[in-house]
Amino acid sequence: MQKKLFTSQSIIRKNKINSTNNFALELLKSRNPAAGTVVLTLNQTKGRGQQTNSWESESGKNLTISIILRPEFLPITQQFHISMLISLGVYDYLCNYLENVSIKWPNDIYVGDKKIAGILIENSIMGSVLSTSVCGIGLNVNQSKFISDAPNPISLLNCTGKEYDLETELEKLLICIEKRYYQLKNDFFMQMEKDYLDKLYWHNEDHSFEDENGLFTGRIVGISNWGQLRIEAEEGERIYNFKEVSFIK
Ligand code: BTN
Repeated sequence: MQKKLFTSQSIIRKNKINSTNNFALELLKSRNPAAGTVVLTLNQTKGRGQQTNSWESESGKNLTISIILRPEFLPITQQFHISMLISLGVYDYLCNYLENVSIKWPNDIYVGDKKIAGILIENSIMGSVLSTSVCGIGLNVNQSKFISDAPNPISLLNCTGKEYDLETELEKLLICIEKRYYQLKNDFFMQMEKDYLDKLYWHNEDHSFEDENGLFTGRIVGISNWGQLRIEAEEGERIYNFKEVSFIK
């Protein structure tokens, strides 16, 4: 197996915590954790999702981790690249097992029309560059049933019928994320943008969407520099921030 360069040199393992992202954010305030530090728990009691959503994860069944990065090389205007790098890392990892994996803008990981992983990125800035980034990943691995009102969850076990050793999977996942991290750090921005668009759910396909003005038909044509979704509709291009548009069918 390829050697990891920095992630998991320091893995902080907690039996039970409310949220690995909260723990990582506290750590950044009180200690000086190195880039690549990973916070992991097998029992996350109050996992946070995007905005006010929560994240369901049955104890001992899934990967719930937060990776601390210090992407000081990245201008804040390019901060969506952190979402791209983590999404692509999770995407690459899942492609070892599954076909039909895609990235639903901004950073949900889908298998077909179901969500297998969610990502919550929390950045801090210093002047015009990023200072720290807490990259939370919830990846459904061995959970067979979901009880929350999340619309369409699925796990690796649901997809393949197999159970996985979480430690082994963590290692594989971190290797994939690390490769993407270096792709970004070494300035391969354009390749990363291309890869992200290539894997994007509903990219260049006609579909129904809904915004504050109602339903419309359009096609996703790209992402703005700030990570907004660009949809070509009949009357021209529309640009959306997160939660301003829903994917209908
Ligand atoms: C979403 O899809 O809404 C994002 C879900 C992110 C969940 C992960 S689990 C590990 C990390 N800690 C949290 O509290 N949330 C993220």
